Amino acid sequence: MFPLIRNRRTRTNQAVRNLIQETNLSPNDFQAPIFVVEGKNKKEEIASMPGYFRYSLDQLPQEIKTLWSLGIQSVLLFVKVEESLKDNAGKEALNKNGLMQRAIKTVKDTVPEMLVMTDVALDPYSIYGHDGIVENGQIQNDASVEFLAAMALSHAQAGADFVAPSDMMDGRILVMRQRLEEAGYSHTGIMSYSAKYASAFYGPFRDALDSAPVDVQNIPKDKKTYQMNPANRLEAIREAQMDVEEGADIVMVKPGLCYLDIVRDLRNELTTPISVYQVSGEYAMIKAAAEKGWLDEEAVILEQITAIKRAGADFIASYFAKQAVQLIQ
Ligand code: PBG
Repeated sequence: MFPLIRNRRTRTNQAVRNLIQETNLSPNDFQAPIFVVEGKNKKEEIASMPGYFRYSLDQLPQEIKTLWSLGIQSVLLFVKVEESLKDNAGKEALNKNGLMQRAIKTVKDTVPEMLVMTDVALDPYSIYGHDGIVENGQIQNDASVEFLAAMALSHAQAGADFVAPSDMMDGRILVMRQRLEEAGYSHTGIMSYSAKYASAFYGPFRDALDSAPVDVQNIPKDKKTYQMNPANRLEAIREAQMDVEEGADIVMVKPGLCYLDIVRDLRNELTTPISVYQVSGEYAMIKAAAEKGWLDEEAVILEQITAIKRAGADFIASYFAKQAVQLIQ
């Protein structure tokens, strides 16, 4: 007797492996997160994210053109806000001429077709490093939602194609959608960070933006009252379903690698496009191990990104976007 089915026949050589490959990567799979900082002539490397930078606005066009030339057609913008502009109410976030608003215009002026998404949350603007307004030692849901909707509208007015609320307040998508519609921005999309976990993998990002929750008495030192418990799965489905009902155009799972079961669950439950954020800590781990010579950096990058897509992501926000696209070309 011999095995009737020999799976190795379709692994014999590269050509047959290519023919039957189920998951393929292309530049369309990537969105590049971008960190912007005030000032001139700045391209600052983030200590815990080797090879990743914060750009001042004059340096941004060059990076945007590079991304576009590689076939990366979308960016997700984040700003590092000056300490003196932070408060508990996010006043600066609504400044028509604020850093985010100018960054949106800079990208659009450089490459009008580049799809611009913006992070909507209070933390980079907050003296407390929280995603919402803090009163009496608690993150206030409904007041934060009204503020976040105003912030989203401000980004839309500055030219953002999509707003991406990462705050995890309840009911924010509905209010955001309403405020956008009322103001005539029915064309502005919402990518909701729907299943955003209270993860330890955000550390390097908080370094990049100086946005970590502060260590002050009576202020929560973590984000566990709004971000999800990593132990929960059904709750992620509920979060995503609610966001879709409230008007989200795209739902996101974040982080990536530890949450691929959630990505697959959402893929099976929803017809809405799904994005995954491969976060700063995931980037840092690979870079650190590669620096030590312990992992093959390029192979690991492609393996992880392929796994994220195989799990069901339509696209991936990744600090490896540029590198990955170069690797697959
Ligand atoms: C803030 C925000 C965070 C990230 C994206 N938006 C950090 C946080 O919630 O503390 C993390 C991204 C990353 O780690 O790469 N609302």
